[in-house]
Amino acid sequence: MGFHQVWRIFVALSFFAIPVAAQAQTSPLSTSQAEAAAENYQRYCALCHGTDRAGYANDHAPSLRSSSLMVPGNDLLMFRSIAYGRPGTPMAAYREESGGPMSNREINHIVKWLYQQVGTDPRYDENGNSMRLPYDRIPGAAAQGEGVYARECASCHGANGEGGTGTQLANQVFLIFASDQFIKRTIENGRDGTPMPAFKDRLSADDIDNVTAFLRAKATGADLEQPVAKAPPEPEEYVINPGGPDPEFDLEDGIYVAAANLNAALNAKSRMVILDTRTTSWWRMGHIEGAVPVPYYSEFDDVVDNLPRDVWIVGYCECPRAAAESTIRQLRRRGFDKTAVLYEGIQGWAGLGYPITLGEVEPVSANE
Ligand code: HEC
Ligand code: HEC
Repeated sequence: MGFHQVWRIFVALSFFAIPVAAQAQTSPLSTSQAEAAAENYQRYCALCHGTDRAGYANDHAPSLRSSSLMVPGNDLLMFRSIAYGRPGTPMAAYREESGGPMSNREINHIVKWLYQQVGTDPRYDENGNSMRLPYDRIPGAAAQGEGVYARECASCHGANGEGGTGTQLANQVFLIFASDQFIKRTIENGRDGTPMPAFKDRLSADDIDNVTAFLRAKATGADLEQPVAKAPPEPEEYVINPGGPDPEFDLEDGIYVAAANLNAALNAKSRMVILDTRTTSWWRMGHIEGAVPVPYYSEFDDVVDNLPRDVWIVGYCECPRAAAESTIRQLRRRGFDKTAVLYEGIQGWAGLGYPITLGEVEPVSANE
C-alpha cells in the first residue's frame, strides 16, 4: 500500500461543513496574539512557504500571500488546509487532534495574521459585504473539461491531478474543503506572484466551468480517519538493535543514504536511531518501525540531550528531504557527525516497497 493511501478518505462534503473556524474569526488580533502567530509561522511554516510567505522555499509549497488566495471568504479553506493538511503531499495536519503542534485557536490566529500581512479582511470585502463563498455546484460538463485539463493544466498539476510544480488538485482533502466557486475563481484569476496563470482571457466561460466540473468529479467523497494516539518511544528505546554492528552507509554528497542502503542495514540488524522529522500527526499515521518523532520545529538544544553521539542517526521526512535535512544539519552543528538523511524520503521508501508500520486509525466523529 502506498503511503498516500494510509490516510483513507471516503465521506460526503456536507459532513465537514462544520463552522469550526467561524466563531473565532470576529475580532482582529491583539499585538501579542499577532506576535505569537508570527513566531508560530516562522517556526512551523517558513521551512516550505518561506520566511516572507512567498512560497517555494521547499517542496513547491504555494504562496501564502497572493491576493487571489487571501481573498475575503477564503479563510475557512485556509484554516482547514492547515488543520487537516493535504495528505499525500508535504502539507501536514497541524491541529492537535491529529497530532499536530497547534490548537484550533492558534491556527485561527495564523490565518488572521496571514490576512493582516496582506492587508485584507478574512470576512468582508471593501464594501463591508460578507464574503463566504457559496457551496453551490458549477454546472459544467466534466467530460468536456477533461480535454481542457490535459491541454492547459496537466503540465503543472500532473496528468491525473497528482501535482507537480503546481498543487495536487485531485487531493481528496482539498476537494472536500474547496468549493466549486473557489476553484473556478482561482482558474479565472490565477495566483499573482506565482506560476499559476489567469485563464479568464485564455479559455471560454464554458471551458472554465467544464474544467471545474472535471476537477469536482475527482472527489470521491471522504471519511477522514484520525490516527489513535500511540506513545512515542522513550529515550532509552531510541536505539534500534542496540547490540548490533554499526551500519555500512555509503553517503551521497556526504549526507544522503539511499533507501536500499538503509533497508539493508536494518535487515542486517545494525544499531542506529531513526528520526521522523515530520509533523507528529504523520508519525502517528505511519512510520518506519522504531522511528522517533522529532519534528523539524523541535527545540534542538533539548532534543540532543536524549540522542547518543556514538550511534548513527538517520532522519527522514515526507518532503522528501527538506525537513530531514534541516534537522540533520541542526544536529551536525551540535557535533553529531554520524548522521544522514534518507534520500528518497518516506514516500519514496514506501514506493519502493520497504516496510512501514501503520498507525491505528479511528473515524473522526461527525460532532467533533
Ligand atoms: C514540509 C513543507 C510544508 C510545511 C512545513 C508547511 N506547508 Fe503548507 N503546504 C505545503 C505544500 C507542498 C502545499 C501544497 C500541497 C498540495 O499539493 O496540495 C501546502 C499547502 C498549504 C495551504 C493551501 C494553500 C492553497 O494554495 O490552497 C495552506 C493554507 C498552507 N499550506 C499553510 C501552511 C501553514 C500555515 C504552515 C505552518 C503551520 C504550513 N503550511 C507548513 C508544504 C508545507
Ligand atoms: C504553469 C503552471 C500551471 C498551469 C499551466 C496551471 N496551474 Fe494551477 N497552479 C499552479 C501553481 C504553481 C499553483 C499554486 C500557486 C500558489 O498559490 O502559489 C496553482 C494553483 C491552482 C489551484 C489552487 C489549488 C489550491 O491548492 O488552492 C487551482 C484550483 C488550479 N491551480 C487549477 C488549475 C487549472 C484548472 C489549470 C488549467 C486550466 C491550471 N491550474 C493550470 C500552476 C499552474
